[in-house]
Amino acid sequence: MAITFGRPIETRKRLGPGAEVAASRLDLPVRPRRNRRAEWVRRMVREHVLAPDHLIWPLFLIDGQNARVPIPSMPGVERLSVDQCVREAERAARLSIPCIALFPYTDPQRRDETGSEALNPDNLVCRAIRAIKKAVPEIGILCDVALDPFTSHGHDGILRDGVILNDETVAVLVKQALVQAEAGCDIIAPSDMMDGRVGAIRRALDAANFVDVSIMAYAAKYASAFYGPFRDAVGSAKTLVGDKRTYQMDPANSDEALREVALDIEEGADMVMVKPGLLYLDIVRRVKDAFRMPTFAYQVSGEYAMLTAAAQNGWLDGERAMMESLIAFKRAGCDGVLTYFAPRAAEKLRSET
Ligand code: PBG
Repeated sequence: MAITFGRPIETRKRLGPGAEVAASRLDLPVRPRRNRRAEWVRRMVREHVLAPDHLIWPLFLIDGQNARVPIPSMPGVERLSVDQCVREAERAARLSIPCIALFPYTDPQRRDETGSEALNPDNLVCRAIRAIKKAVPEIGILCDVALDPFTSHGHDGILRDGVILNDETVAVLVKQALVQAEAGCDIIAPSDMMDGRVGAIRRALDAANFVDVSIMAYAAKYASAFYGPFRDAVGSAKTLVGDKRTYQMDPANSDEALREVALDIEEGADMVMVKPGLLYLDIVRRVKDAFRMPTFAYQVSGEYAMLTAAAQNGWLDGERAMMESLIAFKRAGCDGVLTYFAPRAAEKLRSET
C-alpha cells in the first residue's frame, strides 16, 4: 500500500493563502519552491497518489492453447489464449492490481448479424472467467457488455436498414450480462451506449439472484478516433460499417455527459466511467464534482499507442510519460483507471516503495 502524504487537503487550502498573507505582512518574498526543494518534502506535500489499487488491466483473448499474438498497433500488448490469460491474471494479483477486464477476439466465423456468440455460455470470455476464477479467485473480473466483438458489421448493437435498434439491442445485452454473471463475472460494464440498458441489466441481475454483481457503466463514452487499435485487437476495425456516432457521444459535448451519468446512476450503476481518458479529463472532473460516485476513466488503446509509439522513437521518456499520464487521472478526480499500462505501472510503483 502506498502511503498518502498530506491527506488533509482542506487544512492546506486554508493555510495556503493565509501563509501568503502572513509572508507579505512580513514584507518578505513568498517562496513556493521551499516545498519542492527535496524529495522528502515533495512527498510530504504531495496531494495525489497512484497505487496499484487504482489500476484495472484490460486483456485481450483469443482461441487456442499457449497462444500469444502481438497486436501491431499496441506494441507490448498481446491477444492471449485462456491459459496465458490465467498466467497474466496471476501476475496481476501478485502486483496487487485489483481487477482485470476481458475482451475477446472472436473467430470471424462465429460472428453474425446479431452477435449471437455473445450469448454462448461457452464463448471465449465465459471460458476465461471460469478459468481465472478457479486459479485466481481473489482478483476481480470486469466484462464489457456490447455486441461489437461478435457482430459481422462491428457495431455494438442490432443493425436494421442501417439503423442501430435501441430496445432490441438492450434485450440482447441483458442476456449477455446474465451469461457473463452466470460464468462468474464480478462487474458488468455496459459499453454500448444504448438508452436504458443499465436499468434493464440491473433488474435482470437482481431477478436472477445476482444481487452482488456490480455494474460499472461506460456512462460518458464518446465517439472517438482513439479506439482504433482496440478495434484491431478485437478484429472489428475492418468489418465496421460506418461509425458509432448515433449512439456514442459527440466529443463537443460536456453537459450531456452529466445527463448520461445521472441516468446511469438512477438506473443502478455502482460505478461510472468516462471514456476516452486523457482528452476528457474535464469531463471526469465535472462528473466527480457533481456525483461523488466511484469514478473511473479508460485510458484507451489510442492513448496507449500514442505514448508507446513516441517512446519507441525515443521522443518521450516512456516510463515518465506513463506515470505522468496516470497521475493526471487521479488529479482530475478518478478513483481508478483502466489502462494497458497497468502491469508496467504497478511494477514501477512496487520498485519505488
Ligand atoms: C466496445 C468497446 C470499445 C472499447 C472498449 N469497449 C470500442 C468501441 O466502442 O468501438 C475501446 C477501448 C480502447 O480503445 O482501448 N464497445
